[in-house]
Amino acid sequence: PLQPVILSGGSGTRLWPMSREAYPKQFLPLTSEHTLFQETVRRLDGLDEEHPRQAIGQTDPLVVCKEAHRFLVAEQMRILGRHPAGILLEPKGRNTAPALTLAALAATQAGEDPILLVMPADHTIRNEPGFRTAVADACVIARQGAVVTFGIVPSKPETGYGYIRQGQPYPSEGLAGHAYGLAGFVEKPDVETAQGYLASGDYLWNSGIFVLRASLWMTLIARFRPDIAQAATAAFAGAKIDGAFLRLDSELFGACPSDSIDYAVMEHLSDGAAADLPPAAVVPLDVGWSDVGAWSALWEVREQDAAGNVLTGDAFVHNARNNLLMAQHRMVAAIGVDDLIVVETPDAVLVATKDSAQDVKAVTQFLQREH
Ligand code: GDD
Ligand code: MG
Repeated sequence: PLQPVILSGGSGTRLWPMSREAYPKQFLPLTSEHTLFQETVRRLDGLDEEHPRQAIGQTDPLVVCKEAHRFLVAEQMRILGRHPAGILLEPKGRNTAPALTLAALAATQAGEDPILLVMPADHTIRNEPGFRTAVADACVIARQGAVVTFGIVPSKPETGYGYIRQGQPYPSEGLAGHAYGLAGFVEKPDVETAQGYLASGDYLWNSGIFVLRASLWMTLIARFRPDIAQAATAAFAGAKIDGAFLRLDSELFGACPSDSIDYAVMEHLSDGAAADLPPAAVVPLDVGWSDVGAWSALWEVREQDAAGNVLTGDAFVHNARNNLLMAQHRMVAAIGVDDLIVVETPDAVLVATKDSAQDVKAVTQFLQREH
């Protein structure tokens, strides 16, 4: 079977003031009437029906999130009429490698060894059937024992992403699309390196979505970060069941070192690597993917009016172009301004140029110092 794993522990600080520690961006309806988390759950609908020959056998998702967000997750699943296979609660965030290790332990608990589809809870994808086709192909490759990543054609030297060097066509029969060997993986390079990758044309952005067998993840994390594997396994063994929730013990899980999937494991893989490593592949993903990292990214993915504006709530523009105006509780009017971001909430208002959207985290850093 295919076990979706939704990683939902991020804090989305660059989407302040809508995204807050208590209510981060994955739980907000930013791109549709559903939240990004709900879109992540719904995105797989139709996978088995559309790809019957792959016999995928998708199951209910496992969600890994912060303990503080347990009711948000449970309630947003309930609204969709969905039941999670489990909700694993982290007392504190330890980044994605421990989170995935917990999910792999939960998925293999009953003696099964499903293929895991690891998905960040805070992305948006325009072409959902196209995404499901890529997932179906990834399942075929992962069943043969490979680690599968999804690659996005890069458009700028973004330093917040992982870069995948695309290798030779991956030898696998029965794929709907294409797959390539993973010839190298570099997480968050510096800007010069990223510029070089972009110019070479050999690199794709890592989407942050992965497909691999649960036991393969356990083998890889035990090999490259035995400290994480041991601490997460001990924490999982000491966890308490509470209805649909699995509560990790604060001390045991707190003792787990913090690292991401990308640094802990992916950077070690490549198709030219040691013979005792599993094969690794990249499936190109040309489906209108965005990780909605900042307000400027939201402006890009939302439908713009003839003047390039995106308006939500009670917002009005005159002689203004390419702005994002989000009014939650008051009317917002913008006149004669271009390329602005204005986000109005009951207790805070953000005004920024689109170019400086990445710097919004300066506000949350300031707030953390002051309060
Ligand atoms: N459960 C849990 N616990 N989830 C977490 C934690 C944690 O401690 N930390 C992060 N997450 C979730 C986030 O909510 C997000 O959905 C996902 O895991 C990825 O974490 P990010 O912190 O957003 O990673 P990133 O954006 O810096 O980098 C990753 O994504 C990029 C694409 O958006 C990497 O995979 C990059 O290589 C990739 O390019
Ligand atoms: Mg991210």
